Amino acid sequence: MSVLARFLQRAPGDELVIEPMRRRHLGQVLPIEQAAYPMSWSRTVFESELDQVRGGTREYLVARQGRTVVGYAGLWIVPDPDGAQAHITNVAVDPSSRRSGVATALLVELARRAIGRGCVSWTLEVRQSSTGAQELYRSFGFAPAGVRTRYYENSEDAIVMWCHDIHLPDYRARLEELACET
Ligand SMILES: CC(C)(COP(=O)(O)OP(=O)(O)OC[C@H]1O[C@@H](n2cnc3c(N)ncnc32)[C@H](O)[C@@H]1OP(=O)(O)O)[C@@H](O)C(=O)NCCC(=O)NCCS
Repeated sequence: MSVLARFLQRAPGDELVIEPMRRRHLGQVLPIEQAAYPMSWSRTVFESELDQVRGGTREYLVARQGRTVVGYAGLWIVPDPDGAQAHITNVAVDPSSRRSGVATALLVELARRAIGRGCVSWTLEVRQSSTGAQELYRSFGFAPAGVRTRYYENSEDAIVMWCHDIHLPDYRARLEELACET
């Protein structure tokens, strides 16, 4: 979708807002999670992840339009002597809001936060069959680096993707370009 089409699609007051996830969002997050995955996270898992935000090892964001949560994403920050790594733990968008830049906007903000926390690379696992998600990650510079065999439900392989040098100016410029597309 073009930038103009996305702009016209969002009525005034309906702008996409990216903000930290709170427990009060979970009532809207859980149905999106259940629609997104065959093996979805429970409320307890989200609550445990949010507890770890306070300890500084997680970042969770929601995207909302007005009061409606339309997507969310999260990171696990892993310290490393050569520079911290950010592991994407979850990204999901409500089916009715897909292909309008919501995941891109969430990932741009997650990347900014990861860089702000000293991360030099980020990584994720994605289902082999999730070619749309892989396309999204490629636009952020992720490249396949390996396969975890039968990682999901002991049946589907995971593609491991990495993106390095996210702290360098070139990557910041890439993020600015991606931000302009949302
Ligand atoms: C993957 C997912 C998060 C993408 O969210 P989204 O908000 O629709 O993504 P965006 O609109 O920001 O997409 C940006 C680009 O990624 C690519 N992309 C995203 N979804 C795609 C799809 N289904 N098919 C092909 N390309 C896709 C496109 O290049 C797209 O740009 P375009 O719309 O201009 O062509 C969403 O489809 C989802 O929630 N899926 C279920 C959960 C999931 O698989 N999460 C990933 C776990 S690793």
